Amino acid sequence: MTATALLAGGLKLQVAEVTAQTPSITSITFTDPAGGPLPAYVPGSHLLVQCGDGVNAYSLTGSGRSPSDYSVSVLRVASGAGGSAAMHRLRAGDRVLVSRPRSAFTPMATARHHLLIAGGIGVTPMLSHARAAAEWGMAATMIYMYRPAEGAHVPELRELLDTRLVECTDRGSFRQALAEKLSSQRLGTHLYVCGPAAFMESVLASARELGWPETRLHSEPFGTPELDAGQPFRAKLTRSGIQVEIPAGVSLLEALEGADVGVPNMCRKGVCGECSVAVLRGTPQHRDLYLSEDQKASGRTMMCCVSRSLDQELELDL
Ligand code: FES
Repeated sequence: MTATALLAGGLKLQVAEVTAQTPSITSITFTDPAGGPLPAYVPGSHLLVQCGDGVNAYSLTGSGRSPSDYSVSVLRVASGAGGSAAMHRLRAGDRVLVSRPRSAFTPMATARHHLLIAGGIGVTPMLSHARAAAEWGMAATMIYMYRPAEGAHVPELRELLDTRLVECTDRGSFRQALAEKLSSQRLGTHLYVCGPAAFMESVLASARELGWPETRLHSEPFGTPELDAGQPFRAKLTRSGIQVEIPAGVSLLEALEGADVGVPNMCRKGVCGECSVAVLRGTPQHRDLYLSEDQKASGRTMMCCVSRSLDQELELDL
């Protein structure tokens, strides 16, 4: 399947503006070439963008209400597959194919307060949440950890959040700010964290230690997740009647292909949704950016290119 087919039903947009945020982060704004409005989206949504040879997911930085443009901010990753470099080469007037916005990191409507924790380029969905909170008159506080001179969208965040923005450029001040905010939130606060995997794990671990319930913790890795090798598990395929062992460091998709069980796929990094398989028994360990939180919680489907199993065995409808 081609990327064009993958994004069928998507939108052909034009680059309206390219703005350097930092030496390595660039914001790109897309508009409808005919000047029309774009589909609305919920805060924390992302777009799949076909650029260069591949398709990548980027968080939208707007609030999502009645958008006349879509903006994303892209960190150039020198060691990546080239997707971010291709995005950085875009110039005003270029045309790109994008998906409709997809939601996987929605603010909770029942929250009384939103505690937003951003690490590095993980600020992008948080900016969307902060903008939406300001528009809806909802209370939000943010801790933004960034390397000196690598803070993106800082002026907008200062204007949106004023004293409710805590900026940290070293680990010590971040740990202190995090401990202070985690232990002083009113009842009904929901925590959202986005950033590198290790950053998110440490924030979530700190919150759990302080007694935050899982239902009030929300996380999204930026871009393609940094995936560890994972634990070995077994996939029992009910229609084929075979069992496939998946060792650590091998994806379920690769193991299935090794057993001559074909699964349609495209991005092989958990963003396109092509490699969805139905789960009949067992608990998937979701590591994709495609499924919504509700879909992940249901455990009925999984993206076999990146996701694994929390149980020793998964039963799949293959
Ligand atoms: S192949 Fe794209 S999500 Fe798995």
